[in-house]
Amino acid sequence: MPPAVTMRSVTAADIPAIEALHDRAFGPGRYARTAYHIRDGLPSFSPLCQLAEREGVLAAALRMAPVTIGGRAGAQLLGPLAVEPPLKGLGIGKALVVDALAAARQAGVQIIVLVGDLPYYERFGFTVAPPSRFDLGGPVNPARLLFIELVPNALSQFRGLVAAEPALQ
Ligand SMILES: CC(C)(COP(=O)(O)OP(=O)(O)OC[C@H]1O[C@@H](n2cnc3c(N)ncnc32)[C@H](O)[C@@H]1OP(=O)(O)O)[C@@H](O)C(=O)NCCC(=O)NCCS
Repeated sequence: MPPAVTMRSVTAADIPAIEALHDRAFGPGRYARTAYHIRDGLPSFSPLCQLAEREGVLAAALRMAPVTIGGRAGAQLLGPLAVEPPLKGLGIGKALVVDALAAARQAGVQIIVLVGDLPYYERFGFTVAPPSRFDLGGPVNPARLLFIELVPNALSQFRGLVAAEPALQ
């Protein structure tokens, strides 16, 4: 990661800039995605959300949202992760994910799920979820439904509907 880039937790004041970054990185069609519907009922950030900035300007942001899986707490939904297009490929995304995983482990999170590219996320230890294991309440390409266990055998504890859990924020 470039030395001028620093990471910190997201605050409410960061949300407009993060939304604008998402517009540039993903475009307006993102709201139709199933993962967005899960996050709909939640505040726009949680304590595990992280951003990277360079000279005080937003460079990248990663959202983590507390969810229940089959009614059980201890899980987070990772995403969106977005890096300012001109700053892609500098290691900023990797640094944010590594940091988020460490913070989640520290906070006692047992499992993280996400909808994303396996070729990117497998380097952090994410793998494809077993078929039909998680129900995101909408259509998801099963090859993009990924998870990582932060404690051994966590997967065995989690099965079923992935749902927003505002009370866990
Ligand atoms: C995907 C994204 C978050 C990666 O962040 P980044 O800071 O550009 O990437 P990093 O510098 O941390 O990592 C670069 C590595 O990831 C790889 N990579 C980047 N995007 C990838 C993707 N979609 N699939 C597979 N590999 C990818 C690069 O080839 C590079 O590999 P290398 O380390 O072997 O050379 C960023 O490019 C982005 O914001 N993309 C648009 C939004 C998006 O698609 N976000 C969701 C990710 S599923």
